[in-house]
Amino acid sequence: MCGIIAYTGERSAGPILLDGLRHLEYRGYDSAGIALQVEGPGLHVERATGKIEGLVRRVEGRLPEATSGVGHTRWATHGEPSERNAHPLTDPERRVALVHNGIVENHEELRAALGDGQTFASDTDTEVLAHLIGRELARGVDALEAVRCAVGRARGAFSLVAMPRDEPGRLIAARVGHAGGIVVGHGEGERLLASDLGALLPHTRRVTFLEPGELADVRAERVCYVDSAGAAVEKAVEEQAVSAVALGKGRHRHFLAKELHEQPDAVLDVLRGRYLSDPFRVELEGFPLDEEGARALRRVVLVGMGTSLLACSVGRHYVERFARLPAEVDNASEFRYRRPVLDPGTLVISVSQSGETADTLAAMEEARAAGCPQLTVCNTPGAQATRVADGTVFLRAGPEISVASTKCLTSSITALHAIALHLGRLTGRLPEELAAEQVRAALHLPAAVGEALELEPQVAGIAERYARFQNFLFLGRGLSYPMAMEGALKLKELAYIHAEGYPAGEMKHGPIALVDESVPTVAIALRDEVFEKMRSNIEQLRARRGPVIAVVSHGDRSLDGVVEELVELPAVHPLLSPVVSAVPLQLLAYHIALERGADVDQPRNLAKTVTVE
Ligand code: G6P
Repeated sequence: MCGIIAYTGERSAGPILLDGLRHLEYRGYDSAGIALQVEGPGLHVERATGKIEGLVRRVEGRLPEATSGVGHTRWATHGEPSERNAHPLTDPERRVALVHNGIVENHEELRAALGDGQTFASDTDTEVLAHLIGRELARGVDALEAVRCAVGRARGAFSLVAMPRDEPGRLIAARVGHAGGIVVGHGEGERLLASDLGALLPHTRRVTFLEPGELADVRAERVCYVDSAGAAVEKAVEEQAVSAVALGKGRHRHFLAKELHEQPDAVLDVLRGRYLSDPFRVELEGFPLDEEGARALRRVVLVGMGTSLLACSVGRHYVERFARLPAEVDNASEFRYRRPVLDPGTLVISVSQSGETADTLAAMEEARAAGCPQLTVCNTPGAQATRVADGTVFLRAGPEISVASTKCLTSSITALHAIALHLGRLTGRLPEELAAEQVRAALHLPAAVGEALELEPQVAGIAERYARFQNFLFLGRGLSYPMAMEGALKLKELAYIHAEGYPAGEMKHGPIALVDESVPTVAIALRDEVFEKMRSNIEQLRARRGPVIAVVSHGDRSLDGVVEELVELPAVHPLLSPVVSAVPLQLLAYHIALERGADVDQPRNLAKTVTVE
């Protein structure tokens, strides 16, 4: 998660940008840089590897005077952490300086389209956008239009700020897809842009958030907005109340909604620096085994509680598929008391948002006593789980305040995907083509999760129609089975509705006895090898007059007219579908809870971190 800051106004831009970068450093710090718009030579660019202070030391006392500029702190995705890959990046003729947060998925395609004569100074996906913008500017195209054309050719989810050399005081910001937001700050005689609201607050509380597809044409005295088609958009200035900021809900009514909407960024933050292209591969810090250790493994056991346990159930598929090791999932509270057979040939992977859940810690202690190597997936630096485990994969999802977990589910599943790919490479059992395909597919996840959030109006409508039902079934097969469990869990937690999650094949062995017109079923029926079986399960439900809400693959209308409600997911690789199908299930539970007036963030009887067994 890179950080972006930009300034245009009357004050000296350099110190403002450096200070802004300090606020953003938590988002990544493998390199940082600033570009200033200066008279005469045009763009003055300074970049350095490592933390912001390294950049500060480098530029101290020698920054030229300038009243507009852009700054960036980086966490590498494409291209190693190095000065040449640090932002701001420019086109070869230095007509534009660019800072960027997110992933340009088709950057190779765009590079190829630019033609052979083009030389690139970095290995980043970003630079191709600088070239595209620079080329338009060279043809005399207006800067806003140049940026709009360039981002229009890019696929992915990202945001950027472009500073054209020849137009003093002008900045162009763009947001594409849901990952990586951008906020405009309106000060007295000045404007700022930042990836985080927090970086603007020392300067102003009057802000405007860009929505996906929007661009802002920013000058100190005025800002104009356009949509992706270039049509003008009217946008209001919001006064950010200090209390809302202090509470951290931002623009949302509930932490749950905020965290649910943070998922494209949270997933991106799992990928950052770990899923790499050129060549496509996963690199994981904190993994406790080398090749020899991985090859000595005989099995993997995944443990967790609640939503984290359901992430483990998806992770099991990944371990089996990519590392070809037998994998089991255990509820951490059951694991310990079953006297499990454990030895140093068993890798234990625990998943815990808090890293403090008592049952999970107890299971980890059991594994430690048996001499098992251990890896934990955790969102909380310094948590007990990270001290017990031999290695930690941090989620970097930021605080999850809402008691019911959302972003840490999708982040944990993504982290387990990375772990399994890494393990597969170490054991030598993962074919290179499969690894490359999976890395490529994972780099599309932030965009796909963002598109899934666009289902919210449709899902809110369904919630309105179904909020008064007292019992629900959730069905899925394969990778969708844990998500059916999660959909049911969310509905119980948030809306206090009795809901059961089942593997669809089990339905006719009991749950179907409950079905009539008063029991709706949410069926996750994706186009995979078990689709036809899911379809017959749905027919069986319909024959008993049970209403069906079907979650289906992108472009699949085959259940149209068969089911009451059809929720079509965005396109995603089938193995990564749980990360995306989780979103409409979360939205459904949230909106039903709203309809029923439930306490969404702090449901009765629950706790965020359960430190008792
Ligand atoms: C509680 C929370 C759940 C969470 C579970 C496990 O029950 O309400 O949202 O999934 O604990 O928490 P952990 O911190 O170990 O992931």
